[in-house]
Amino acid sequence: MRILRTIAEVRAAITQERGAGKTVGLVPTMGAFHEGHLSLMRQARTHNDLVVVSLFVNPTQFAPNEDLSSYPRDEESDARQAVQEGVDILFAPAASEIYPDGFATSIHVSGLTDVLDGASRGAHHFDGVATVVTKLFGIVRPDVAYFGQKDAQQVLVVRRVVRDLDLDVRIEACPIVREPDGLAMSSRNVYLDAAAREQAAALNRALDAAQALHESGERAADRIVRAAREVLDDAGIAPEYLELRDAETLERVTTGDRDTLLAVAARVGAARLIDNHVLKGAR
Ligand code: PAF
Repeated sequence: MRILRTIAEVRAAITQERGAGKTVGLVPTMGAFHEGHLSLMRQARTHNDLVVVSLFVNPTQFAPNEDLSSYPRDEESDARQAVQEGVDILFAPAASEIYPDGFATSIHVSGLTDVLDGASRGAHHFDGVATVVTKLFGIVRPDVAYFGQKDAQQVLVVRRVVRDLDLDVRIEACPIVREPDGLAMSSRNVYLDAAAREQAAALNRALDAAQALHESGERAADRIVRAAREVLDDAGIAPEYLELRDAETLERVTTGDRDTLLAVAARVGAARLIDNHVLKGAR
């Protein structure tokens, strides 16, 4: 595996391989790898000739009050794991490589980013994501890019950017990878102490309870959401949001009779965690 720091190096390496007819899979990450990231790399490895993983803690998607400075970073361990997964190129640029002096462009996706994490974290968050992901697509020019379904809203935003800007890349959303007790894997789980770690498992239990009610035939959105809220209440978790929305448009729904996204965000101990389940409708 090659660790590359500059856009010019990545372009040179990939142009050579693409010229030989190879397909390119990209896994964009902010590092601190866990099984979720590794599952994306395995998908990319299975379906592409060349696998590129980007490792960049993107400053523009963090608000000033968020955890940019404390975000877990361990490039050495990440590189070791990437080698084990058969990654060809680890692109780990400095911030100045991605955002040189005078950088002035931002990509904003209207509508989709006004709700859930966009409302909770602020508009800058998805602007930062959309901009850096578009840059990565421009640098790597992947055939396929792999994202985790845990960040369901991010997947929808990236898909919309690709569609609206006619970017020639296929977006593959991969299933959420969970701990044995159901907690969705996240780089931010390292912030949880033992008590918070136990409490955090209630997020998925809450989504499970709502999903079970939906599967039993309940279609009223307020009852489905209430089933999840009761589990969170019992666990002493006050969510930032817990909402049932259309799984494609993120519009509010009153009934769960089409594909809907039940999404939650909550502070648990020192971590802000998100999770979701897609409730399958009859669409
Ligand atoms: O999901 C992430 O880790 C980040 O939001 C991404 C897609 C790598 C962009 O910085």
